[in-house]
Amino acid sequence: MGISKPPFTISCISFLALYISLYATITPTSSASLQDSFIECLQRNTNVGFPLERTFFTHERNASLFKEVFESTAQNQRFLTNSMPKPGFIFKPVHESHVQASIVCAKKLGIHFLVRSGGHDYEGVSYVSQIETQFVLIDLSKLRQVNVDIEDNSAWVQAGATIGELYYRIAEKSKIHGFPAGVFPSLGVGGHITGGAYGSLMRKYGLAADNVLDAKIVDANGKLLDRAAMGEDLFWAIRGGSGGSFGIILSWKIKLVPVPETITVFTVTKTLEQDASFKILSKWQRVADKLVEELFLRVFFTVVGNNAYKTVKMAYIGQFLGEKGTLLEVMKKGFPELGLTQKDCIEMSWIESIVYNSGFPTSPLPPLEILLQAKSPIGKIYFKAKSDFAKEPIHILGLIGMVKKFLEEDAVLVVWTPYGGKMNKIPECEIPFPHRNGTIFMIQYYRSWSDNEKRPNRRIKWMRELYSYMTPYVSSNPRQAYVNYRDLDLGQNRNSSKSNFLEAKIWGAKYFKDNFSRLVRIKTKVDPDNFFRHEQSIPTLPIRS
Ligand SMILES: Cc1cc2nc3c(=O)[nH]c(=O)nc-3n(C[C@H](O)[C@H](O)[C@H](O)COP(=O)(O)OP(=O)(O)OC[C@H]3O[C@@H](n4cnc5c(N)ncnc54)[C@H](O)[C@@H]3O)c2cc1C
Ligand SMILES: *[C@@H]1O[C@H](CO)[C@@H](O)[C@H](O)[C@H]1NC(C)=O
Ligand SMILES: *[C@@H]1O[C@H](CO)[C@@H](O)[C@H](O)[C@H]1NC(C)=O
Ligand SMILES: *[C@@H]1O[C@H](CO)[C@@H](O)[C@H](O)[C@H]1NC(C)=O
Ligand SMILES: *[C@@H]1O[C@H](CO)[C@@H](O)[C@H](O)[C@H]1NC(C)=O
Repeated sequence: MGISKPPFTISCISFLALYISLYATITPTSSASLQDSFIECLQRNTNVGFPLERTFFTHERNASLFKEVFESTAQNQRFLTNSMPKPGFIFKPVHESHVQASIVCAKKLGIHFLVRSGGHDYEGVSYVSQIETQFVLIDLSKLRQVNVDIEDNSAWVQAGATIGELYYRIAEKSKIHGFPAGVFPSLGVGGHITGGAYGSLMRKYGLAADNVLDAKIVDANGKLLDRAAMGEDLFWAIRGGSGGSFGIILSWKIKLVPVPETITVFTVTKTLEQDASFKILSKWQRVADKLVEELFLRVFFTVVGNNAYKTVKMAYIGQFLGEKGTLLEVMKKGFPELGLTQKDCIEMSWIESIVYNSGFPTSPLPPLEILLQAKSPIGKIYFKAKSDFAKEPIHILGLIGMVKKFLEEDAVLVVWTPYGGKMNKIPECEIPFPHRNGTIFMIQYYRSWSDNEKRPNRRIKWMRELYSYMTPYVSSNPRQAYVNYRDLDLGQNRNSSKSNFLEAKIWGAKYFKDNFSRLVRIKTKVDPDNFFRHEQSIPTLPIRS
């Protein structure tokens, strides 16, 4: 890439800089002058050029391009409506030193920025702030290198890569290596792993964050640190302690895990009528976390039919690390009620199973290269979601009320994900993610709608009612939640630069249990000015006066 030099002499630049900084202190900064000061500052703080037309985007310069870049990876349309605030400008670093310079310059100019990798945040906090008066967006999508080292069983992957690209690059080099992260290919490696990151290998190998060996991060002073330089406290915090709180992750070094050459996937669906007494669903709750850890068997609840006749469909979607003969034996012994047969089972490679589970249409299975396109398989939708953890099987009366609640709506998706296996064996304080032994399954509630939805608030209200209905059946004190399924209903930081420690303790305990206090201590140490912040970032300790 060419180094873009400004068309001025040095003295002109410094004069301009002086002029800009004076101007900036006198008048409230327009985004144009802010951007100019920022660019000028960046140029002084990096030796690597950044062609402006490829790295800087403003509404003023090209409104349609700005909109396109802003919306490119934003998953939740709720945060893209006209009434939502927009960043003053977007900067896409093309070199790691640009990220360092961004921090130095943003601090100096008093600019608040948000950081986005894959844009899948449930509450849009990586690209929209509803609590800052102004903000800019640092989008890492151009930092997306993946270097797989099969000999070393490891890979370095940059934050802006998608998890699908990572999987593809691993499989390109080996059929028997994999990585235990999320199932959805367009997830950004940067944000995803900061919250834990689970997928179909979790019962065998734990979370992505459990399999991180090293990381490169830029801290609040613009320093680039690896594991040795950041120290074990900060290295602990970034593996599950949530994104946008401790610094900017530039890349992760991950540990690859073994997968067999042949694995088996299957989907068996039952309607309410086919499981009228919840015999199958009740059995699933008793065994899903206890079956062999090679088996990952989730339940997807959807509402099907029309107003004349609606029912709930329960899809049992499974993945087994082995051949179908062995799977059939496991199921016959542990869960015969599901009635899995030979013809339900499809054998394939691990990377094909990624595509099978990705949400892309699967018959026929699309080419693996689909994992390289950063597009989301489900397109852009409006949604609200929540999470829960079940510690005991939900009683049949609870289930009856639950499906009744589902039937009030249509585009419902509720997913039950089994725990157990490796997840039980990792201590709660190993990394910040605390949902371990004692959890039978995680629940995700998800309600989406489209552009022509007349009453979006009603959808959100329904979701909150469902959550309230579920209270007696799930974890309590605290009622646990998964930070990667961010939910601002649980509470949020309200004031721009001040943290609300006491309020945050309430939602913090839901995401991190007791680990929250350690996260706060680390945050206070590494970022005392709360430079990295958003609606649910880890707060600093209140200063005693
Ligand atoms: C359709 C869909 C499917 C999903 N499937 C799964 C799944 O299978 N398993 C699972 O565990 N989760 C899943 N998730 C949740 C997902 O893990 C989180 O939304 C995650 O935060 C996404 O990371 P991102 O980089 O795409 O998001 P972003 O929106 O870019 O970032 C999320 C958060 O991390 C911060 N952040 C982003 N990049 C960095 C960085 N480089 N350094 C520091 N902080 C950063 C952001 O500021 C923000 O706070 C899913 C989400 C969606 C929308
Ligand atoms: C704005 O960007 C779009 C998309 O790249 C481009 O087609 C268009 O020519 C640009 N418009 C101007 C005025 O530069
Ligand atoms: C998990 O918890 C159960 C009961 O609380 C306990 O008996 C078991 O030993 C624990 N397992 C591990 C691996 O810690
Ligand atoms: C935010 O700060 C302002 C001014 O400092 C204060 O008046 C207000 O009560 C604060 N709000 C919250 C929710 O803490
Ligand atoms: C982290 O959380 C675990 C479980 O909630 C707790 O046992 C441990 O004491 C916590 N660690 C610290 C340092 O607070």
